[in-house]
Amino acid sequence: MEPKERIILALDVSGHEGALDIVKQFKDHIDTFKVGSELFTSAGPKIIQDINAMGKKVFLDLKFHDIPNTVSRSAHAAAELGVFMFNVHTMGGLEMMKQAAQGLVKASLKKNIKRPKLLGVTVLTSIDQDILRDEIGIQHRMATQVKHLAKLALDAGLDGVVASPQDIEMIRSRCGSGFLIVTPGIRPSWAPPDDQKRTMTPKQAIARGADYLVIGRSVTAQPSPIKALELILKEIEKAG
Ligand code: C5P
Repeated sequence: MEPKERIILALDVSGHEGALDIVKQFKDHIDTFKVGSELFTSAGPKIIQDINAMGKKVFLDLKFHDIPNTVSRSAHAAAELGVFMFNVHTMGGLEMMKQAAQGLVKASLKKNIKRPKLLGVTVLTSIDQDILRDEIGIQHRMATQVKHLAKLALDAGLDGVVASPQDIEMIRSRCGSGFLIVTPGIRPSWAPPDDQKRTMTPKQAIARGADYLVIGRSVTAQPSPIKALELILKEIEKAG
């Protein structure tokens, strides 16, 4: 993969026009943009159609988590929208993930479109060991839980997971080389950490085996966003 294919730029804005402005600004430099729940809830599916109409791809980051039938139907709807990639929570269980994967195949065959990549979210990076044990009631160590859920996603037929950069090597060794690892929490050495706690540089994440990097503020909040992106692309090229 070329460096420009590895970056997914997070559209962390609520307005349709604001999001499209960002896509216009970066469309000649990268291929994929992430639409999360804030933007999707305010701008609706049209934002996906508009990004696709500009020849760009969408990672729909809505983290579906519901009964298998509902998630399967949501997966079908995401495929019909023409997203490149979307995700579900692995904690929804094996059957939910299996049905999501099957919903995709059905929708893609029916509409003769390319099957989107389906990712699983293991444990959110906002959850630490204490929250996992004391609030959620899971007694496993965090690493054990993440590894277990990543393997469950693989067994269910998912294409990969969204994971913290710290978990890349562990997931790679458990799930194999064909399993996609998409990682946020990326900070070049020259960018501030903002609210991210356990970050890695683009070079480190790629060297450890990440396939895609989700990047937001270290590009969009910089004084010269295009220059920041170019620096990151160069860094990835050196790591690859
Ligand atoms: O600005 P920054 O690079 O921190 O943005 C990272 C993006 O990745 C945001 O859209 C954030 O919601 C998302 N994300 C994350 N950590 C996760 C999952 C998603 O930062 N575990």
